Amino acid sequence: MRFAEPYKIKMVEPIRLIPRAEREARIREAGYNVFGLRSRDVFVDLLTDSGTGAMSEEQWAGLMRGDEAYAGSDSFYRLKETVESITGYSWVIPTHQGRGAEQCIMPQIVTRPGMYVLGNMHFDTTRAHIQLAGGRPVDLVIAEASDTETYHPFKGNIDLQRLRAFIVEHGPENIGAIIMTVTCNSAGGQPVSMANIRAASAIAREFGITFLFDTARYAENCYFIRQREAGYENAEPIAIAREMFSYGDGLMMSAKKDALVNIGGLLAFKHEELYRAAAGLVVPFEGFLTYGGLAGRDVEAMAVGLLEALEVDYLAARIGQVAYLGEQLHEAGIPIQLPVGGHAVFVDAAKFLPQIPADQFPGHALAVELYIEGGVRGVEVGSLMMGRDPETGLQLPSEFEFLRLAVPRRTYTNNHMDVVVDALKAVWERRHAVRGIRFVQEPKVLRHFTARFDWADVPAVR
Ligand code: F0G
Repeated sequence: MRFAEPYKIKMVEPIRLIPRAEREARIREAGYNVFGLRSRDVFVDLLTDSGTGAMSEEQWAGLMRGDEAYAGSDSFYRLKETVESITGYSWVIPTHQGRGAEQCIMPQIVTRPGMYVLGNMHFDTTRAHIQLAGGRPVDLVIAEASDTETYHPFKGNIDLQRLRAFIVEHGPENIGAIIMTVTCNSAGGQPVSMANIRAASAIAREFGITFLFDTARYAENCYFIRQREAGYENAEPIAIAREMFSYGDGLMMSAKKDALVNIGGLLAFKHEELYRAAAGLVVPFEGFLTYGGLAGRDVEAMAVGLLEALEVDYLAARIGQVAYLGEQLHEAGIPIQLPVGGHAVFVDAAKFLPQIPADQFPGHALAVELYIEGGVRGVEVGSLMMGRDPETGLQLPSEFEFLRLAVPRRTYTNNHMDVVVDALKAVWERRHAVRGIRFVQEPKVLRHFTARFDWADVPAVR
């Protein structure tokens, strides 16, 4: 039998496909930057799966139940009990979103300038907070991750040999922590296996290094373990989660993904020591420890969403929809990261547009063309996002040139996915004529959000 979503729609939000000539005008006005578009001018918005999903009726009811007490809110205690039941960690702090959690934990890990923070592949805000704390982020994802055509069930795995070698070479006293990002967003929403987590955790223990999780999409990771790792076929996702977290010392989370809320984040620790350390920064930056920059109602919705995201039927529909999008693109001959990840399809723009060099941003050119073609908004993950070396000013090399099509949770139907496929196929048909992109205005920091561009073959002065 084919799958169907385990829910029906109670409220709808109108969207509209504006005419092509208008799309061309809107993207030009936006300086050829998809972040500059107004959402009303976007038909299917696959910019991110972060905070863009639909809440359930239970979550909306939770908003009414939310306890707005400044300290000791009931909603906080519901969240704490839920997090404990999933992770086994009893030291829980809500934060306003993932990067709020990161800014409070990084200075506790990077206790001396120059310390390394190792991981499979850090997300860009995580990387930024490691650097802001004076540390050096290091990505040690397996080599298979950068080969989009090779099938590997767990492309988010950390390379255990390189991990051990790095620790031995640089000394465990110079390693602040090991962070496992589940799923590994930057490599294409690729999962990490339980065996890999267990082995990496054992290495951390052996050398006395703190082992943390970045759990933005941990429920999706648990589902992949159930699907692809021997011995977990019949395990409940929550049981898989409990085992996974038993290998760590704590977690930081963007709740805007697998807690199914529009805003929120989380810190949780196995031991009091890290909790106390982080708490010292949570109060001045985020707010008191039982609300962390959120309204009580947001904390309540998070407690409900954390459990909903672990339901097997939900996960099957969620992962199934992303796979549905990916399979159709693959069948059309469009190069994508295989196998398809949890939250997004990553189109291999370097292969799609081989005529465009990395410094003319093939992933970004493809994002602009896809918007013009079908009103669909995706985002580049490649050289443009990677940016320049802050010391030399040179473009940093990027392992990938991706166009990411991130699917919001419980938001679009498969008809919307079909529209995305048709639009991308139309660009594929005329791919040889697609041009590169150049900067008109390039900000120094996090340039991809606010830069302005033009087509590379359009002269600077016209
Ligand atoms: N960690 C991972 C793995 C993420 O994907 C994100 C956000 C964060 C941390 C930061 O969390 O946004 O709540 O502050 N990823 C979003 C994305 C923005 O589009 O992939 P945040």
